[in-house]
Amino acid sequence: MKVLVTGGAGYIGSHTTLSLLDDGHDVVVLDNLCNSNAESVRRVEEISGRHVEFRRVDLLDAVALDAVFAEFRFDSVIHFAGLKAVGESVEKPLAYYQNNVVGTLNLLHAMERAEVRTLVFSSSATVYGASDRVPLNEHEPLDASNPYGRTKEQIEDILSDLGAADPRWRVALLRYFNPAGAHESGRIGEDPQGTPNNLLPFVAQVAVGRREKVTVFGGDYPTPDGTGIRDYIHVMDLAAGHIAAVGFLNNRSGVFRWNLGTGRGSSVLEVIQAFSEAVGHKVKHEFADRRPGDAAVSYADPAAALADLGWSAHRTLAQMCEDHWRWQRNNPFGYSNDVAVPSLHGK
Ligand code: UD1
Repeated sequence: MKVLVTGGAGYIGSHTTLSLLDDGHDVVVLDNLCNSNAESVRRVEEISGRHVEFRRVDLLDAVALDAVFAEFRFDSVIHFAGLKAVGESVEKPLAYYQNNVVGTLNLLHAMERAEVRTLVFSSSATVYGASDRVPLNEHEPLDASNPYGRTKEQIEDILSDLGAADPRWRVALLRYFNPAGAHESGRIGEDPQGTPNNLLPFVAQVAVGRREKVTVFGGDYPTPDGTGIRDYIHVMDLAAGHIAAVGFLNNRSGVFRWNLGTGRGSSVLEVIQAFSEAVGHKVKHEFADRRPGDAAVSYADPAAALADLGWSAHRTLAQMCEDHWRWQRNNPFGYSNDVAVPSLHGK
């Protein structure tokens, strides 16, 4: 199959592109590089030994988008491109609605014009809001609590309406829990710009000496060790979930929703401990107040994805930390690795 991957230079997009290539598909990556690096696409080519067509296109540019659909005949689209920082979305809501919602509308119009109606959409467990009901299954009411989350929820609504209006559409809404880890080669991985918002990349930057210590947001949650619990899922398991979804849509129309998680929760302290073991020295941390809007506990019920797609996540937290660390250690400054590391501590 020929697959268009929007946001294919980003973290989950680059790993999914690699899995698609390994599975024998042809991939065209479309990315505006606003929060990613074309070097990731080059490295995906290097690891896979396959060629990837790359087009630097912004989804807000409808003319350029149509040109890509005119150039290639796609069987399906996997749509990752979007802004994803919760805090920034509160400060710049218009940028989030414009990029994520309008960008997706442009993509859908371009798909209609090109008569490509198979789409896998990168949604998020954030659509469930700060719900403490666990495990979370796909029937939980949606209640996103910030502009970023609401863009995901609104796009899900748009796609549901589209599927209801035109039964030719084949749509998978994949609600990711907490992606972590990297490809085992250590050549591609997560490369956040500025201060990481998420736990794993922050812990990794402390481990490599770019930051002094991890701030643990809250030690007084009603959990066994007092810290927040999340469902961390290896990015290569996540990538495999996309391949399974594309395969499923091959012979079914309609709009489908699946949680992609492991079904197991780990606390912040367990993550820091597992990462410390991968690194071989203790990653320092300190406690601070809770981060507003955080749930105490969130993990998936992944039963539907297993039943429908035959997919489940099998990599452990230890593997996620080892793989994440290999990437961070080999690329202390991500894809801009030409900067010297100021104070590497540990080996
Ligand atoms: C966050 C976003 C969510 C987004 C997801 C993946 C918020 C409120 N939610 O979810 O919308 O879909 O990332 O991008 O931002 N933690 C620390 N110290 C840190 C960072 C995190 O203690 O420096 C804790 C958090 O309080 C939480 C856990 O680690 O308990 C995981 O945090 P994070 O990686 O930000 O993911 P989520 O909060 O699940």
